[in-house]
Amino acid sequence: MMFGLLKCLPVFLLTSFALAQDRNLRTVKTAFENANITEAADITFDPTLLLEVAFPQASGDEVPVHAGIQLPRNQTAIPPVFGIQRLGSLHVPSGTFVVAMVDLDPPTPQDPTEAQIRHFLGGNFELGRVNPDGVELLSNSTPAISNFLQPTPPAGSDPHRYVFLLFQQPPGFNRQTEVNATTPIENFNISQFAQDVGLGDPLGGTFILSSLALLFTASLALFSSCQDTSLATVQTAFENVSIPEDANLNFDPTVLFEVIFPQASGSPVNVTAGVQLARNETAIPPLFGIQGSTSSSNDTFVVAMVDLDAPTPQDPTSAQIRHFLGGNFVAGQPDAGGLSLLSNSTAALSEYQQPTPPAGSDPHRYVFLLFNQSAAFNDQTEVNATTSIANFNISQFALDVGLGDPLGGTFILVGPDPTS
Ligand SMILES: *[C@@H]1O[C@H](CO)[C@@H](O)[C@H](O)[C@H]1NC(C)=O
Ligand SMILES: *[C@@H]1O[C@H](CO)[C@@H](O)[C@H](O)[C@H]1NC(C)=O
Ligand SMILES: *[C@@H]1O[C@H](CO)[C@@H](O)[C@H](O)[C@H]1NC(C)=O
Ligand SMILES: *[C@@H]1O[C@H](CO)[C@@H](O)[C@H](O)[C@H]1NC(C)=O
Ligand SMILES: *[C@@H]1O[C@H](CO)[C@@H](O)[C@H](O)[C@H]1NC(C)=O
Ligand SMILES: *[C@@H]1O[C@H](CO)[C@@H](O)[C@H](O)[C@H]1NC(C)=O
Ligand SMILES: *[C@@H]1O[C@H](CO)[C@@H](O)[C@H](O)[C@H]1NC(C)=O
Ligand SMILES: *[C@@H]1O[C@H](CO)[C@@H](O)[C@H](O)[C@H]1NC(C)=O
Ligand SMILES: *[C@@H]1O[C@H](CO)[C@@H](O)[C@H](O)[C@H]1NC(C)=O
Ligand SMILES: *[C@@H]1O[C@H](CO)[C@@H](O)[C@H](O)[C@H]1NC(C)=O
Ligand SMILES: *[C@@H]1O[C@H](CO)[C@@H](O)[C@H](O)[C@H]1NC(C)=O
Ligand SMILES: *[C@@H]1O[C@H](CO)[C@@H](O)[C@H](O)[C@H]1NC(C)=O
Repeated sequence: MMFGLLKCLPVFLLTSFALAQDRNLRTVKTAFENANITEAADITFDPTLLLEVAFPQASGDEVPVHAGIQLPRNQTAIPPVFGIQRLGSLHVPSGTFVVAMVDLDPPTPQDPTEAQIRHFLGGNFELGRVNPDGVELLSNSTPAISNFLQPTPPAGSDPHRYVFLLFQQPPGFNRQTEVNATTPIENFNISQFAQDVGLGDPLGGTFILSSLALLFTASLALFSSCQDTSLATVQTAFENVSIPEDANLNFDPTVLFEVIFPQASGSPVNVTAGVQLARNETAIPPLFGIQGSTSSSNDTFVVAMVDLDAPTPQDPTSAQIRHFLGGNFVAGQPDAGGLSLLSNSTAALSEYQQPTPPAGSDPHRYVFLLFNQSAAFNDQTEVNATTSIANFNISQFALDVGLGDPLGGTFILVGPDPTS
């Protein structure tokens, strides 16, 4: 079975392709499980196809979706395009397809009394041309049953889970009478609908998390006093596990760099240097911040996250794996606890990749580093979205791009999923 084959493949073996979209069935399945989607939507989710979703933008490139990505609402204004990733031996059935998009969390994840909201439902999708990333686009020639409705979580709500599902279209689907353009979109049940019209289990899916543009500022107070509080402790923690030596870094921090992992439900997880996190706590891309007043409040920063121990700490032949690299981060106003969140307005060079140590491995060291951004950074050509993330060297990159020594850092330990 497809799953048996993919089960033990660490994600980074598949990442010589464009990184922004889903590339691995198991990663998608795990992301669904971690976000409790299978339970909340009452679906059996054993994907055999990679459903790709991208949001076109009024100007600039379309925004590709990978399972669990957070998108500000204003990037979801234009109806998304759908496709299927032709990858290796994945079997793509012939025939037509049904695509659905539902919000599992209206009006709020804590009290989803209107769930599900049907944001899109359409059939007669057929595979067509292949785009430059190898995605076969799905196009339809009949009107949707429910036209696309932009995500609109109420102000103050935590992000909602908007789930996209792909089904094989059964004969007779076009004669269904359960849903039409005037059927209320609230209190929809995609599982019930699939059962009623014979869609079977979804072949594939993905999801986004979306809230109003000011992502998370409403919940800032939740993590106001946090995490690493002493530069000396952070430095010792790095030295205790040989990070400066293994990553060829001079690590003499002058800034307390904070990393926060938001969770699909509940409080965010705070990082202290050396904390061990369950892999499923690292599904959502982390937030970054600087603790305490700093003379660098007008500076621009580069943030990197690397795995020093891939595929295993005993034999790190793929290390470093670049799990994130982005620049043009600036510090916001400090909150009551002195934490200034970093925000950015340009795309990351390497988008966040969730830690995925292979089954059987000891925990890996995932190191987060904060650098003062150099003038050369925005002109660098060493790393782009298609550069292999394996065998990266952050020390060499810092040298090449003139970043100097890190201003701060922290790290987490993550072992394999207990289920892998
Ligand atoms: C992570 O998985 C463990 C079981 O392996 C479970 O107890 C825990 O609730 C999960 N946490 C999240 C954030 O999904
Ligand atoms: C998962 O979703 C179900 C149904 O919405 C809910 O009852 C359950 O508490 C959720 N579990 C977690 C760990 O959030
Ligand atoms: C979305 O809103 C943010 C903040 O309001 C703004 O900076 C950004 O340019 C907007 N993006 C789009 C695609 O409109
Ligand atoms: C649309 O569906 C509703 C039930 O959701 C039904 O009452 C109504 O008659 C249908 N309208 C048409 C035009 O089929
Ligand atoms: C949705 O439909 C499924 C399948 O009939 C059912 O098991 C589930 O309880 C329904 N969910 C809600 C919230 O009514
Ligand atoms: C993170 O820090 C905040 C503020 O100190 C605290 O309320 C919260 O419980 C911490 N979270 C965890 C998981 O320790
Ligand atoms: C460093 O290692 C020593 C000895 O194992 C331990 O006592 C100490 O708590 C560690 N310090 C940090 C900051 O991790
Ligand atoms: C960052 O670099 C700029 C010059 O490029 C310098 O003015 C500033 O003091 C540096 N900030 C820190 C925190 O080193
Ligand atoms: C940061 O920039 C603002 C406006 O350019 C200026 O008023 C402020 O003094 C600067 N702060 C520091 C610490 O350089
Ligand atoms: C900002 O940083 C995030 C990760 O924190 C990254 O995913 C994103 O590409 C960056 N750029 C924008 C415009 O969000
Ligand atoms: C991306 O970087 C690779 C080297 O890692 C290079 O071969 C390729 O031409 C670059 N692509 C673009 C679009 O700059
Ligand atoms: C990484 O780069 C640094 C700086 O050039 C170099 O000293 C080190 O040997 C490199 N590490 C590896 C594993 O190539």
